[in-house]
Amino acid sequence: MRIKALKELYSEREIDATVRRLAAMINADYAGREVLILCVLKGAFMFFSDLLKHLDFGPKIDFLRVSSYGDGQSSSGEVKLELGQEHCLKGRDILVVEDIVDSGRSMDVLKKRLLALDVKTLRIAALVDKLERREVDVTVDYAGFSVPSGFIVGYGLDYAERFRELPALYTVEFED
Ligand code: IMP
Ligand code: MG
Repeated sequence: MRIKALKELYSEREIDATVRRLAAMINADYAGREVLILCVLKGAFMFFSDLLKHLDFGPKIDFLRVSSYGDGQSSSGEVKLELGQEHCLKGRDILVVEDIVDSGRSMDVLKKRLLALDVKTLRIAALVDKLERREVDVTVDYAGFSVPSGFIVGYGLDYAERFRELPALYTVEFED
């Protein structure tokens, strides 16, 4: 689909305040614990790096990839997961950092896969929670913005690999 315009949804300032709010909650919950934070590539990379700067409990980090989207706007239903070093996750406190939880399918697959590896605890932080679009039951433990609908880009999030570099969040307006 062709793009008509991008409309700013959340500014850099609003994002910064939200990232700090989530970091404060995460710091309070994980104080004194040994935590492995998993960044879901590619969409979460900017949120992840900003969030990390405000965490004070010395987490370890790793990256993984979950892909369910092609160039379209809705989930293909098939979820691919690439995760290295699986043996290291056993018995650990894991925090997954994701860009958006939409239908919930990607996170559902990831959660099941991680829980099968006998992780100790598993929580999810997501910059955007599209609660009303949920098709499977997935709870976001640390949700930045709750957005009902619309396709969002910027701050790491893409449409067909574009707009990841933008520092704010935008809603895409498509041509009819
Ligand atoms: P789900 O499996 O339907 O929950 O899809 C989640 C994934 O789809 C997210 O990790 C994003 O990569 C992508 N996605 C869903 N909605 C959007 C959006 O509005 N903008 C950009 N990517 C999105
Ligand atoms: Mg994603």
